[in-house]
Amino acid sequence: MGRLDNRVAIVTGAKQGIGKAVADKLEAEGATVVGADIQEGATLRVDVSQEDDVRRMVEETVARHGRLDVLVNVAAIVPFTPWDEIDFAEWRRIMSVNLDGTFLTNHYAQKAMRENGYGRIVNVASNVVLAGTPNLAHYVASKGGVFAFTRALARELGPHGITVNSVAPGLTASEGVLASKHAEAFEFVQMLQAIPRRAVPADIAPAVAFLASEEAGWITGQMLVADGGHTHN
Ligand SMILES: NC(=O)c1ccc[n+]([C@@H]2O[C@H](COP(=O)([O-])OP(=O)(O)OC[C@H]3O[C@@H](n4cnc5c(N)ncnc54)[C@H](O)[C@@H]3O)[C@@H](O)[C@H]2O)c1
Repeated sequence: MGRLDNRVAIVTGAKQGIGKAVADKLEAEGATVVGADIQEGATLRVDVSQEDDVRRMVEETVARHGRLDVLVNVAAIVPFTPWDEIDFAEWRRIMSVNLDGTFLTNHYAQKAMRENGYGRIVNVASNVVLAGTPNLAHYVASKGGVFAFTRALARELGPHGITVNSVAPGLTASEGVLASKHAEAFEFVQMLQAIPRRAVPADIAPAVAFLASEEAGWITGQMLVADGGHTHN
């Protein structure tokens, strides 16, 4: 018996990193998971910044599995760009995936969820919203948008039986981070954490699975920080 038996979930960004760990965890809890990613190899190939792709993602999920109960919006770009190198094109590149993608996935998913008067939406934010981390100001702004949008949407969707929450990871050893300059920050960040070790994607998935479960139904509009005690909400 899993907490997500008979539930149908979409996880975006499911090809690697935190998205893959979340998809594995939801499946282990009994859900049918549609993994969506811009890279080949997920169930569906989707660019979350493209409206037609996102509409099709939700339509195909409902056509194949009959319903949609859970959306976990993980797909994002995690850049490393010092402030002086952020021009408008770079700003838009991050906003289009991280913030437009959040709007589009939430918009189409909640339409399908409202048919059944039940839904769980979890948007992945970041603890940079609290820490104001340098070298990614556009990303910090996009995740601040995810945090605030989540709170606002929770108010709109509560009457429809849909909760909307965010999970804010801290620095985590995903494929994306390990291939970037962020990997150089692990030692420093560990000193700031209450729990002095390197986070892995599987550390984040349980927080998401909880908020995606039926029993979390009295929790909405919240940001659950999963960062080993680095920052304080
Ligand atoms: N790893 C960290 O330190 C950390 C910390 C805080 C928050 N986060 C957040 O966690 C989430 C996952 O991060 P990660 O570190 O696992 O990243 P990652 O780069 O390892 O994986 C991101 C996944 O999203 C997919 N993706 C990117 N753009 C997409 C698009 N337009 N459409 C569909 N899929 C797309 C990628 O193909 C990839 O599979 C992101 O929202 C990120 O902002 C990560």
